Amino acid sequence: MEKSENIYPVFDRMLTRADKESLLKQRGMMLWFTGLSGSGKSTVAIALERELQRRGLLCRLLDGDNIRTGINANLGFTADDRRENIRRIAEVAKLFVDTGIITLAAFISPTEELRTLARDIIGADDFKEIYISTPLEECERRDVKGLYARARRGEVKHFTGISAPFEAPQHPALSLDTSRLTLEQSVAKLVELVTGSMP
Ligand code: ADX
Repeated sequence: MEKSENIYPVFDRMLTRADKESLLKQRGMMLWFTGLSGSGKSTVAIALERELQRRGLLCRLLDGDNIRTGINANLGFTADDRRENIRRIAEVAKLFVDTGIITLAAFISPTEELRTLARDIIGADDFKEIYISTPLEECERRDVKGLYARARRGEVKHFTGISAPFEAPQHPALSLDTSRLTLEQSVAKLVELVTGSMP
């Protein structure tokens, strides 16, 4: 490219992802958790983050608590809003992955289209899809936030699994059913997946 065409000259001077990764002695990667509300995405991701930190690996967890209350506070649960939710999350996650950080995202991301959007933004090489496959009946039985009961009464619109679709991923890197596995078992499988990709 001609020098005069370079409209982002700052990129030439910024440290690269490889510089960050050699500082951290780890490789950046995306663990994209998908599954129904109440399936255990955040619980597993939080336990994994703790275990990886204990092993000296730097992580960043993105979930509803820090995203839907902040950067995405203006978004609801229509198809368009869910798409914008996932697009912004993926763009933010990409910045962390490009900093060499093991980035965990725990969002329902209910359709193949939404997860493909995230994968395309982040890059397939860095993207590992983790399906928390806990069945709907178990998620509804847990009903941690009371939202399934409200959705059954028609008080919550577009509720995933009840009045909005959830498409199971076809080829996840890992599938974990938290009604069959203990938290420790799920974390152990994930640690194996992550450490297998580290330098
Ligand atoms: S996503 O579909 O856009 O990926 P996200 O993971 O950010 O969803 O948010 C899901 C959480 O929002 C659920 O765990 C639940 O607590 C809450 N929520 C509120 N309304 C809905 C709804 N209509 N459908 C699904 N989740 C909802």
